Amino acid sequence: MSARQVVIGSDHAAVALKAEIVSDLKAAGHSVEDVGTFTPDSVDYPDIAGQVAAAVTSGAGKVGILLCGTGIGVAIAANKFPGIRAATCHDTTTARLSRQHNDANVLCLGGRILGSAVALDIVKCWLATPFEGGRHERRLLKMAAIEKKEPR
Ligand code: RB5
Repeated sequence: MSARQVVIGSDHAAVALKAEIVSDLKAAGHSVEDVGTFTPDSVDYPDIAGQVAAAVTSGAGKVGILLCGTGIGVAIAANKFPGIRAATCHDTTTARLSRQHNDANVLCLGGRILGSAVALDIVKCWLATPFEGGRHERRLLKMAAIEKKEPR
């Protein structure tokens, strides 16, 4: 798999899983920017999601990984940012399809939902799967138009 630039962040509910993912990504040769959090002290997931979303939209080729207890709050928050397509994935099937059909650029995972072996498989699958394009491209363009409040 080619090396990727990954920006990762989590709230307090997924610090341990984030650390495992970071070390797995680095061992696989990816470049990793970890925006925190680094302790179990409570933080607000929209703050972390905002940092990762800003990095993904500002850096060509960067992709994001966000974690919270469920993977839901970070996805809702990240999807408020223009250009972000954040997908909460629970298995390699949803991970693969979020890339093939939705060109997801932020993967969201639930630290209180997933075991680490499943989470690491999801990350590998998500990073390795390309966007299929074709009919899916048209749907992405429609979503971009919604974002810009353009007619579609
Ligand atoms: C934090 O307790 C929890 O609400 C958060 O990690 C996340 O699951 C929200 O969606």
